Amino acid sequence: MPLLKGTSHINDRGVLTIGGVAADRLAERFGTPLFVYDEALIRERVRTFHRVLQAEGVDYDVAYACKAFCIRAMVELAQEEGLSLDVVSGGELYTAFISGFPPERIHFHGNNKSVEELELALQAGVGTIIVDNFVELERLAALIREGTCSRQGQPVNVLLRMTPGVHADTHAYISTGQEDSKFGFDLGSGQVAEAIRRVQEIPELRLTGLHMHIGSQIFSAAGYLAAVERLLGALPSLPQFSFDVLNLGGGFGIAHTEAEDAPPIETLLLDIVRGVKARFADAGYALPALWFEPGRSIVGEAGWTLYRVGSIKDLPGVRRYVAVDGGMSDNIRPALYGARYTALLANRAREAATETVTVAGKLCESGDVLIEAADLPPVRPGDLIAVPATGAYAFAMSSNYNRLPRPAVVFVRNGKARLVVRRETYADVVRFDRSLSADDEGSEDEASDDVGAFLKGEWG
Ligand code: LLP
Repeated sequence: MPLLKGTSHINDRGVLTIGGVAADRLAERFGTPLFVYDEALIRERVRTFHRVLQAEGVDYDVAYACKAFCIRAMVELAQEEGLSLDVVSGGELYTAFISGFPPERIHFHGNNKSVEELELALQAGVGTIIVDNFVELERLAALIREGTCSRQGQPVNVLLRMTPGVHADTHAYISTGQEDSKFGFDLGSGQVAEAIRRVQEIPELRLTGLHMHIGSQIFSAAGYLAAVERLLGALPSLPQFSFDVLNLGGGFGIAHTEAEDAPPIETLLLDIVRGVKARFADAGYALPALWFEPGRSIVGEAGWTLYRVGSIKDLPGVRRYVAVDGGMSDNIRPALYGARYTALLANRAREAATETVTVAGKLCESGDVLIEAADLPPVRPGDLIAVPATGAYAFAMSSNYNRLPRPAVVFVRNGKARLVVRRETYADVVRFDRSLSADDEGSEDEASDDVGAFLKGEWG
């Protein structure tokens, strides 16, 4: 069973055990569907980044791309493990604030940061803003002129996000380095040069370097290195700037099934770092600090989803549908990207897999299929199905479709399970609804300005 990573194993009772806690106990205690994270494995993945980059002797920073799984406990863990934090929205910023994450270690991303979001970032003293486009540059300059910034005369650090014009070998929806992308300044057409000129006209901004992110779920260094070659080729035609940081983004792929042959982080990271070093040396440039923004590779393999089996439908000669108590509302990836997963029968994991079944969700969509062909022992209603490698972009992209409450999340470690997100209730699901018979019209003021209030209290 190759996808048993980290602390996961099958115990004497034949039950999947994660972080020293058996899956059947977790399901009884916290209900299903349930996201279970192997905390030690997350920490191990983070430490691998630090270890490799320190051993390579490069100046570096690793920011956890929290879009992969943005909850308070994870942001706290990122801080404990010496990571910076990549956020892409006011909501992620707010999560960082309430988790006590140091603002100067936050990197703020996004292709359409609103004025309010930029204002928040400036007031909080966010460490680096990765500027994506010309409108954003103007918004930033205007806000700083109005005196929004909390940094008392200190310029705000910015990186410019560029699209280097390379195609990462991954799903089109998660490929972001090509020219025709909604993200960043295009290198080939001169937008990067123009952006550098404009930033340099704004004394309140300090350009510290460039950013690129060519895509996600990538297995080889080739795309990163092709992008760096493009950049180095273009450098002589760019205005002079102090190139202190090259942010290479995230994108490190993981295996979701036994068939996927993802390289270990060490391998991909070493290939990239050594390749970048060599290319800078060949071109005669000093190596800037190398920054990375991994999301999936930090949390993906550590996360499991536990489901309870409900109905089973046989179509003789066609297939057997095994329906579980979640589905596309907690993992949209199969429906959205055709992503493939495998499953374990968590409560009888040692029994021989003699059936190939289709694991379907409970949502009202024919496309709500989690696994097209899962090899499992004979499945019965009440069994527990565990899907590995669901730690990234599953809970993060979950929804209340069909008004399903979102699952709970637990972190397990050394035989202890800690609830880090409680399961939604039906009351939670309807909490923003207003009755047609309410006598007032309602207003947006009812949505309290949490972040503004928070900032006034903390930093005001
Ligand atoms: N940095 C930037 C600028 C990004 O846009 C992303 C991901 C990352 C870092 C982190 O990439 P990672 O290391 O996680 O590959 N929902 C999709 C993935 C979308 C990725 C978006 N950007 C999925 O489920 O596959």
